[in-house]
Amino acid sequence: MYASKIVSVGYYVPENVVTNKDLEKLMDTSDAWIIERTGIQERRHIKPGDGNTTSVMGVKAAKNALEKAGMDADEIDLIVFATLSPTLYFPGGGVEVQEMLTKRTIPALDIRNQCSGFVYGLSVADQFIKTGMYKNVLVIGSENHSGGLDMTTRGRGVSVIFGDGAGAIVMSRAEEGDSSSILSTHLHSEGKHKKELMLEGPSTQVWVPELMQINPETEYLPYHPHMNGQYVFKHAVTRFSEVINEGLEANGLSVSDIDLLIPHQANLRISQFIQKRFSLSENQVFNNIQKYGNTTAASIPIALAEAVEEDKLQRGDLLVLAAFGSGFTWGSAIIRW
Ligand code: UT7
Repeated sequence: MYASKIVSVGYYVPENVVTNKDLEKLMDTSDAWIIERTGIQERRHIKPGDGNTTSVMGVKAAKNALEKAGMDADEIDLIVFATLSPTLYFPGGGVEVQEMLTKRTIPALDIRNQCSGFVYGLSVADQFIKTGMYKNVLVIGSENHSGGLDMTTRGRGVSVIFGDGAGAIVMSRAEEGDSSSILSTHLHSEGKHKKELMLEGPSTQVWVPELMQINPETEYLPYHPHMNGQYVFKHAVTRFSEVINEGLEANGLSVSDIDLLIPHQANLRISQFIQKRFSLSENQVFNNIQKYGNTTAASIPIALAEAVEEDKLQRGDLLVLAAFGSGFTWGSAIIRW
């Protein structure tokens, strides 16, 4: 068995900044409420005409990661693309990334695990590299949330939280004597909670003719995301803690070994709760939800890219990634940086 490592991290966020004050003009919300309940100050939204789609942003993040790795896209053997907001219903965004990045007919795998999508994708890439099937894998998380949010007071419990953006990593086979490697990944799901955070249609369950019968003034709108916020929050704090402990125990490590924890950026209050529960310092938990909101599958790689830019990680550090989201799905990755 081989080992895999993260070679580089890139990201891309649209230029268009949407502040809480901007949202006040669209719905009955306030800067104070959003900051108090979520920590978010602003997020990025694609602007019509700026050329961005979920796949285009994914490619921009991937190119940024490739540049940092000093690699050419033609060196990549597999694309793993995680999103809940694909450009097309099908085919998945992975093939669009392939089309924009390389002429080689490399495989493109789409991951549909929402906020856990990036950790699931990293785990898949790790398995392919470990077995020796592929040497260099691109793992991308990208989201265009702004296209599907209900930007009225009716949707305020969800729409103030989510933002657009993309992050990507290049993963490669670790060389002999390389101290950096993915130590382990831990994945879970529990589908009985699916209705607590979902976007129902268009889908084969609620197809377009049915959607067209809906009166948007009075009826439930399946084409916007719906979330039972407090219910999701309670499960999130439990599952985040469990899956971090599971990862540490699997490697004979303890909380005191953690140098940096990057939780999926769901809510600053969730991150702070975990920080307290594990008695970590503010410096040991990286957060950037304040600037970007919750970018779902993109949140961890964007945060990781910024953590690297800000010199928060040194070679040999123990990095823990953890995610939780719709499904419910959750997971962690224990990484020697
Ligand atoms: O990333 C995937 C996983 N997602 C999460 O982990 C998200 C988990 N949940 C959360 O982050 C929080 O539950 C939210 C931020 C979504 C909501 O915060 P909360 O403290 O749980 O608020 P709440 O839903 O209990 O709502 C409290 C009040 C309600 O009004 P009443 O019934 O008390 O009069 C809401 O209608 O706040 C109201 N409210 C708002 N007010 C102003 C809901 N959204 C807003 C808003 N602006 N945007």
